[in-house]
Amino acid sequence: MSKRNLAYVALAVLMVASMLLGACGKQAEKAEAKLEIFSWWTAGGEADGLNAMYKIYSAKYPNVEIVNATVAGGAGSNAKAVLATRMQANDPPDSFQVHAGHELIDSWVKADKMQPVTQIFKDNGWMDKYPKGVIDILSYNGEIWSVPVNIHRSNVLWYNTKVFTDNGIQPPETLDQFFAAADKLKAAGVTPLALGDNGIWTVTHLFESVLLGTMGPEKYLGLWKGTTDWNGAEVKAALENLAKMLGYVNEDHAALSWDQAAQLVADGNAAMTVMGDWAEGYFKAAKLTPGKEFGYVPSPGTKGSFIMLSDSFGLPKGVKDPVNATNWLIVCGSKEGQDAFNPLKGSIPARTDGDRALYDVYLQSAMDDFNSNAIVPSLAHGAAAAEGWVTAAHDTMTLFVANKDVAAAQTALAKACVDAGVCK
Ligand code: GAL
Repeated sequence: MSKRNLAYVALAVLMVASMLLGACGKQAEKAEAKLEIFSWWTAGGEADGLNAMYKIYSAKYPNVEIVNATVAGGAGSNAKAVLATRMQANDPPDSFQVHAGHELIDSWVKADKMQPVTQIFKDNGWMDKYPKGVIDILSYNGEIWSVPVNIHRSNVLWYNTKVFTDNGIQPPETLDQFFAAADKLKAAGVTPLALGDNGIWTVTHLFESVLLGTMGPEKYLGLWKGTTDWNGAEVKAALENLAKMLGYVNEDHAALSWDQAAQLVADGNAAMTVMGDWAEGYFKAAKLTPGKEFGYVPSPGTKGSFIMLSDSFGLPKGVKDPVNATNWLIVCGSKEGQDAFNPLKGSIPARTDGDRALYDVYLQSAMDDFNSNAIVPSLAHGAAAAEGWVTAAHDTMTLFVANKDVAAAQTALAKACVDAGVCK
């Protein structure tokens, strides 16, 4: 080959190489550029907690643009459908909020839509930083499938302290005390119980507290294992209690969301609401102080038991930005991430080494209860039962709110357990 030809070849090689490099460079740039996080955290408290984790991420990876893909609607009532459509179309977000337990494993892991995150746990030294029970509910087939950011408590009754004082009411511990307080408040012209069930999950949420308050933790646990009879007397009594409670709620409940119901309590337009402790995050975002403007007790009859759920983030198969997604999960699972997120979110860290001093008086009490109470899983928030069962419960509650038909609801709930393959 002549010198001149050699020079042409060399030039051509250089051009191709630089084109390839350019393309790769662009791809790398693109890969670094975005991180799409999918969740339903849009209300006060929950959105603030999420932003606190974004802030940590952005400080570490300033070149990555975070795409905050939220779909409003508590408990994922709208978000889960949007997510399912995207997952089916193989268009997953880089990471998404998912409840630990059945929601994660039955909906996504068994469907082969997730990548395991066990290695992330090992690489970051997290294996002994989480309670074994939490790792267990994130595990399937020997792998861990998501990174938990918190532990929430579902069975809390929140109340307006001034409304209670003005009406001479003590925080009710039992169902009987609750009904006595509700009668007194009603007679005084105060709405006793705020409910916002424009997303029907809030009635399922109230029902799980009433089930636990009526039958206690062992029988409640048995409901999800097929050892407590859905056709039995305790479930009937729980439905009767629920029907009675629904007689004390605000008239416009069907038009309100969970946070609008919490606002009724914040404003003193209702005395109480039963909601998970994301309501604590909401109250604090509204500049109220726990133990001062609002108080809290375990929902009636549930003292000594803790209905738990955990929000986590997973790594779907086929994400666009796997490196960014992994770095996100590392922030979620870190002590720094959890101690920034949870004090605002109204939850306690899933890790065991959270800095207690950063948590307010309510959250410290939740930490103590989580360590000493009977821990049982939440139905409404994906821990106790598979999504199909949860949906059947929502459908049953939709009818129940309208007709209060105890027998029909009990039959439908018993069937849901059979359909889930748990009851015979
Ligand atoms: C729950 C979720 C909480 C909170 C709540 C209301 O399902 O676990 O973190 O977001 O919904 O949106």
